[in-house]
Amino acid sequence: MKENKGETMGAYYDDNTLAEINHRVDILDVVADTVKLTRKGDRYWGLCPFHAEKTPSFSVTPGKNMFYCFGCHAGGNLFTYIMKRDGMDFPEAVQMLASRAGIQLHHTQVNKAVDRFRRVVEVNKAAASWFQGILEEDPAATKARQYLAKRHLKEDTIKRFQLGYSPNEWNRISNYLLGKGFDLEWVKESGLIKRSKNGDAYYDLFRDRVIFPIFDYQGSIVGFGGRTVEEALPKYLNTPETEVYVKRNHLFGLYQARETIRKSNQAILVEGYMDCLKLHQHDIQNAVASLGTALTREQALLLRRYSENILVLYDGDEAGQRETLRAVEILAEQGLNVEVLTLPGGLDPDDYLDQYGKEEFLQYIQNNRVSYIEFKVKRSIAAENSLNLQAKIRVINAVKPDIGRLESTILRDNYVKMLSRLLKIEENLILKEIESNIGQRMQHPKNKSPVNRDNIQYGNYSMEEKILANMLQNSDIADTIASQIGVQCFTSRHYNRLAAICYEMGGDLQANPVAWQQAVQKEGLEALLARLESRWHEGIRINDAELWYFIRSVQRGRQKAKWRKLHQRLDQLRNDGGFHSVLRLILDLDTFLHQTREGGIQ
Ligand code: UTP
Ligand code: MN
Repeated sequence: MKENKGETMGAYYDDNTLAEINHRVDILDVVADTVKLTRKGDRYWGLCPFHAEKTPSFSVTPGKNMFYCFGCHAGGNLFTYIMKRDGMDFPEAVQMLASRAGIQLHHTQVNKAVDRFRRVVEVNKAAASWFQGILEEDPAATKARQYLAKRHLKEDTIKRFQLGYSPNEWNRISNYLLGKGFDLEWVKESGLIKRSKNGDAYYDLFRDRVIFPIFDYQGSIVGFGGRTVEEALPKYLNTPETEVYVKRNHLFGLYQARETIRKSNQAILVEGYMDCLKLHQHDIQNAVASLGTALTREQALLLRRYSENILVLYDGDEAGQRETLRAVEILAEQGLNVEVLTLPGGLDPDDYLDQYGKEEFLQYIQNNRVSYIEFKVKRSIAAENSLNLQAKIRVINAVKPDIGRLESTILRDNYVKMLSRLLKIEENLILKEIESNIGQRMQHPKNKSPVNRDNIQYGNYSMEEKILANMLQNSDIADTIASQIGVQCFTSRHYNRLAAICYEMGGDLQANPVAWQQAVQKEGLEALLARLESRWHEGIRINDAELWYFIRSVQRGRQKAKWRKLHQRLDQLRNDGGFHSVLRLILDLDTFLHQTREGGIQ
């Protein structure tokens, strides 16, 4: 559940340092670096740096060091502002702000890990430039050069991505690195050499392979992929997982692509190293590739730092399309807007570009990109042999949660219409099905990570927003809610998480704002908090009557859910009920009715 960001936060910096930075740096100054702000009341307004707009909906609350945009719902604190604006991770943002504040940072705890990382990266860097040199001019690399030319890779691309070649020998890179004076420990740690089975000898991992260095997003080489030029197996060898190279945290090409991704607010995700290179070569510079494994949640979070919009462009074959389905789930769970493009005839992006060129490729994307929900619908339908009633229900079930999660009723309606058309089922039946899912989610909140758009619309949304905003600012209200219905009383899981933090922090937001912000940041809820803060500033207050109306309606909702469950069980018993299960039900029913009469259902 915890992101890296949260983990490292504690390890790198203590609360005092963060509080000190917050105290010394005024978010107004930081924002004013790039945004022109105008004062209105106790807040400042400007054009949002995170989305294109003509009238200001971006607000800064200086006292709290918070920002919130009413247009795109980006929001957070001083640190998250820098992370978002400059595409930094948390430690980088802290460093940047600390130096702005003139604060010296102490890194005693992390020195060791950082040192390890630095040393392995040094080894990798030396190795990469050696491989590069070999590819450029060593006679042994003629075959590799011809191979890359055959694949239509140009000099520029090869240079930009620092491709290289490892000769077909056993000890070239190890001799080179040890000869340069690198410690055996770090050379081993780099994964470039392997210990032989029978003892102390080492040999090179990559032999006779084109080398693709894998950069982290800041440009340090953390690992390598090596492609055979002789069609040997496996096609690619990769640096094994080490402490320094953790595959799930990196994306191939991100370092080269990140500026373009940020500026265009759009990333293209492909499967292969080659695909990624080819897109860049055609000046489509927002392409990244996952690293030969299924896309991970960490990779999705990494992308989310730079862009809200992801186009998944995997190979057009069956395997690629299957992987697409997995990838879009992970991306959508992170609240990203996900679209899918399926290439015709089982082609991959590299083949397509070779065959048809850039213009046709872009045209094809424009005409054929679909939302991931549409992709899921079409794929689920294609997976069915015949579209009988059971199959239709399966199709609806596959996209029910996705449609239920949409904030826009227009969009939701659009998909309901689409399903109705494709499945030949009446719209209102589909709508009912989807609404029942929203109810179910309330009973079993999934452990999904929060989306960064925080205004998902569920039934009594504005009431919930009001309640939560008040809970955060007023511990009496929080206490009443906790004792009456528990703080996990919202239909949105993000609201519930924030409420849980509120409860754990034992009090209101005013008491200890820095600790609050840190806890909130760990869960990625800073935008939601900033939004609720803004609402509070606008004067959103609940009175007793509203508070109790809310409490009652939550209780009623829970009762209804229980009744629904009982009915389901009754239905089931009607078909296959043995004596004991009927008895069990009667006993449960008795307890339930008792509680209902006492009004004590929780
Ligand atoms: P592909 O087989 O699609 O590779 O695998 P590709 O990049 O298009 O390569 P070409 O066009 O055949 O040269 C997609 C990705 O899966 C990983 C690599 O990251 C590759 O880019 N992979 C594939 C491996 O790690 N090992 C393998 O043996 C195969
Ligand atoms: Mn390929």
